[in-house]
Amino acid sequence: VFSPLIYECSRYLILFVNPHFVSLCILGLVLSAGLVSRKGVKAEEDAEVVALLRKAGAIPIAVSNVSELCMWWESNNNLYGRTRNPYDTSRTVGGSSGGEGCLLGAAGSVISIGSDIGGSIRIPAFFNCVFGLKPTSGILSNAGKYPPAHESICPYLSMGPLCRYASDLKPLLKVLAGNNVSKLHLDKKVNLSQLKVYYMDNDGGNPHTTKVHPEVLGAQKKVLLHFENNFGIKPLKVSLINMKSAFKMWNSKMMMTKHPSFASEMVEGNGELNTYMELLKWCFKLSDHTFPAIGLSLFEKLRSCQSPEETQYFVEMCDRLQLEFQELLGDDGVFLYPPHPEPAPCHNEPVFKFSNCVYTAVFNILQLPALQCPVGLSQAGVPLGVQVVAAKYNDHLTLAFATEIEKAFGGWINPSNVVVN
Ligand SMILES: *[C@@H]1O[C@H](CO)[C@@H](O)[C@H](O)[C@H]1NC(C)=O
Ligand SMILES: *[C@@H]1O[C@H](CO)[C@@H](O)[C@H](O)[C@H]1NC(C)=O
Ligand SMILES: *[C@@H]1O[C@H](CO)[C@@H](O)[C@H](O)[C@H]1NC(C)=O
Repeated sequence: VFSPLIYECSRYLILFVNPHFVSLCILGLVLSAGLVSRKGVKAEEDAEVVALLRKAGAIPIAVSNVSELCMWWESNNNLYGRTRNPYDTSRTVGGSSGGEGCLLGAAGSVISIGSDIGGSIRIPAFFNCVFGLKPTSGILSNAGKYPPAHESICPYLSMGPLCRYASDLKPLLKVLAGNNVSKLHLDKKVNLSQLKVYYMDNDGGNPHTTKVHPEVLGAQKKVLLHFENNFGIKPLKVSLINMKSAFKMWNSKMMMTKHPSFASEMVEGNGELNTYMELLKWCFKLSDHTFPAIGLSLFEKLRSCQSPEETQYFVEMCDRLQLEFQELLGDDGVFLYPPHPEPAPCHNEPVFKFSNCVYTAVFNILQLPALQCPVGLSQAGVPLGVQVVAAKYNDHLTLAFATEIEKAFGGWINPSNVVVN
């Protein structure tokens, strides 16, 4: 069922799986989540999604680098170091599933699993020229990861596949969804000419996000034009003004969950990290933690100063936006949006641009299926892409789009050609 290439390599499915904060459990493999204190800890069982893949014939062969506790969009931790982008080693691979993105982009593997609460699948997929899908919320099981996902966070967190070939998305999703596959319509024939296409060029003016790079915008324009010229679709530009408050909405939704604090997760639930002390230690290179992780726990403290009224305001705004999307997209619409405002930035740059992940994170709180598709390389030779979103349970529309985008724009591009040319 999987792409011919996999069968050429082996009669079995070769699978690289991410230990994600996901620190996805794979029996017998490392389950560190990039925490120094968890060095050597191994999983004692399979995550539910891993068990399903194993049952379908997959052989997990490796776990790879992540950000500390998988809560950052660069893959660097004090246990395994930093993963570099195969298209340009001075740039980041993204995160948290950055090791997976890198392995796929560098042709080291064909399919993998990540988990996504703000872009952890889609950002590395974008930076490494592969497909990455965050499916409709609540379809894939989140069971079997470290730290465990609290029930209240599951509507926003989802496991999902990353892969080099669009044709692998459907069989992967079919296996990963288990019994829930009946909620999707993966075998429904999609006539692209009958779809409605909506898009936005940017988030409409959040002052904290980077302006969308002309080449990222250009990639989206090319895709829109392709569907207009070849399928007679008239793409409609929409203006959902609340998109610019996505960061506040995401934060407020997270504050409403009962998930343990990040500061407590950093010390494996044994009390809470003393953030200020740790920052001081970090300055003297005495901390086991990375700067983004310490920064996030600090941010979490500051975030809790937000008044309950303000939190409620943004939660309601998000619920309204969700309805707006549901009405707009129905069962025959897709929405195109940049996966990220710019191609992979250089190492450490994300610290100054951390809000940029809202381009993906907004679809976690909206609970919609969102798929990053590669669309060629930039002039600098780094991957470009587009994010395809559909209404809940319409994941199949995003897959149909991905297949056509791959056909038209070449999909995954071997990074070694970049060097040779
Ligand atoms: C993980 O990080 C180490 C240390 O920087 C690096 O040698 C290795 O190639 C990385 N592996 C992946 C798959 O990213
Ligand atoms: C099906 O969905 C439910 C609700 O989201 C979830 O609890 C369960 O783990 C899923 N089952 C599988 C096999 O993924
Ligand atoms: C797809 O839809 C278009 C427009 O409605 C129609 O002309 C065409 O025949 C359909 N193609 C198939 C294969 O059904």
